[in-house]
Amino acid sequence: MAHGPLHLSSRCIHGGQAPDPTTGAVMPPIYTSSTFVQESPGKHRGFEYSRSHNATRYAFERCLAELEAGGCADGAGMAWRSTDVTGGGFAFASGLAATATCLELMDAGATILCMDDVYGGTNRLLNRVRARSMGLKVVHVDMTDAARVKEAAAAHRPRMIWVETPTNPTLKLVDLPAVAAIGAAAGAITVCDNTFATPILQRPLEDGFDVVMHSTTKYVAGHSDAVGGALVTRRAELAEKLRFMQNAIGSVMGPFDAYLTLRGLKTLHVRMKAHCHNAMLVAQALEKHPKVERVVYPGLPSHPHHALATRQMKLDGAPAYGGMITIFLKGGLAESRRFLERVKLFALAESLGGVESLIEHPAIMTHASVPAAQRAELGISDSLVRISVGIEDPQDQLADLTQALAAV
Ligand SMILES: Cc1ncc(COP(=O)(O)O)c(C=O)c1O
Repeated sequence: MAHGPLHLSSRCIHGGQAPDPTTGAVMPPIYTSSTFVQESPGKHRGFEYSRSHNATRYAFERCLAELEAGGCADGAGMAWRSTDVTGGGFAFASGLAATATCLELMDAGATILCMDDVYGGTNRLLNRVRARSMGLKVVHVDMTDAARVKEAAAAHRPRMIWVETPTNPTLKLVDLPAVAAIGAAAGAITVCDNTFATPILQRPLEDGFDVVMHSTTKYVAGHSDAVGGALVTRRAELAEKLRFMQNAIGSVMGPFDAYLTLRGLKTLHVRMKAHCHNAMLVAQALEKHPKVERVVYPGLPSHPHHALATRQMKLDGAPAYGGMITIFLKGGLAESRRFLERVKLFALAESLGGVESLIEHPAIMTHASVPAAQRAELGISDSLVRISVGIEDPQDQLADLTQALAAV
């Protein structure tokens, strides 16, 4: 198979893949063996122990590396059974395991500049674990204005800049090329959590970022049936460090999850098209609904960062804004509860990015670990509801939301 500048939809399917050389299997088998036989001590076929080398995990890592980074670091898209060609892609047991490993790129006592609105678990890991265990100094900055990032970088001399865009759950956007340039000038490693936008809509490495992080639990796997995480880099020295730490720390993605996640990844492009299409229709309809105070969706002209979203988020070259919507209901907790208890097609559940529509209440659910004062500052109020628009028929989605709103 040609290994070249394939389109993103083709890379989802063929990125870093080749038929199994022993059987010709078109799809990579699930290699469950934890260990591999050696002919003589230290003489083996490139596989010693499954934490370090697993061919099913490699198949997924190569595919995501090719999708995000435009090719494996060494250009070896074919040799998926060998041990040293995962490109710059690394898969972990969860998104947080990927984040935790990425933080090991810094030394004890370092400073990290972090977007003010990030996934609650990222916030908890930084402020309640690593601040204590490695003396990490965490400086939260509203990065929607690049000038503030520049000022904070000059004042705090960070070793890492951590960005999430669009953010979870307030869907704020960060100008990636601008922050990448600030990070490069400051000598900081720039990391973008690309979970919400996916490599189909947003290209952080092409925008100058050093590392992309994913909770693959979400859109990448896409079916709410596998927890996982990933890091991708194009920089050889960072790939080398991450490869070492993935093995040294050991929170790797298992072979069953790697198989499921790769299987999901193959349809990412078509799924994102449907997510974006449906979310736009749902957002437009909710914006007119009398029981909804405000709709936050980067595709609506009312979104404060709509122009940036139009520039930065694209599907096959045309603006596309993802499948996540945040709404503020009129009223408070009682109204939110009533609405969320009445949805039928939408599942009231944490997580996002699956084919099925999900809905949740961040203040009580996904972001309960963010201190109440910080939640209030960010506007994560009791009337805020987060919606992950799935790929069902949008008329069914709207009918469900409308009947639930009628009960409020
Ligand atoms: C944007 C974002 N980043 C990271 C994570 C953490 O990923 P995981 O739950 O797979 O550990 C999540 C989980 O919801 C998320 O939404």
